[in-house]
Amino acid sequence: MRNVLLRVALLAVVLLSFRMWMGNTPAQAAGGDPQKGKAVYVRNCMLCHGHQGLGNGPVGKTINPPAVDFTSAASKKKTDVELLAPIENGRPPTAMVGWKGQLSDAEIQEVLACVKSLRQ
Ligand code: HEC
Repeated sequence: MRNVLLRVALLAVVLLSFRMWMGNTPAQAAGGDPQKGKAVYVRNCMLCHGHQGLGNGPVGKTINPPAVDFTSAASKKKTDVELLAPIENGRPPTAMVGWKGQLSDAEIQEVLACVKSLRQ
């Protein structure tokens, strides 16, 4: 009996540490959920960057410089860090404003994941 309990406890510990380990894989740590990010994107970014991230939203195509087309070769080359910087701090003097403070850190990670999903 004691032996069975011990095994169950051991299994629980192994499963729990596996879950924690999975939750800490770089892929997860690097980005939020693109599905959640979509809602943030639609609310805050779409007017400029457009429904599919082509930079052709109703406002985005009228400003100078225009909103970035995330599917362009130049934009696709950017790393997470290079995309994150303008999202957080904006890119003066363009119309791209910083969203740090307006969006939570989690929302910023989510919208970054959404931007990356639009590149494909
Ligand atoms: C008012 C229009 C506008 C809104 C709203 C807007 N952007 Fe931008 N965005 C721009 C402009 C303009 C640039 C910079 C263009 C340039 O550098 O030539 C830009 C640049 C970027 C870049 C840099 C991309 C690259 O390849 O250099 C990212 C990433 C980005 N925006 C994400 C977002 C996200 C995410 C949101 C919503 C939270 C958002 N933008 C909202 C206009 C906008």
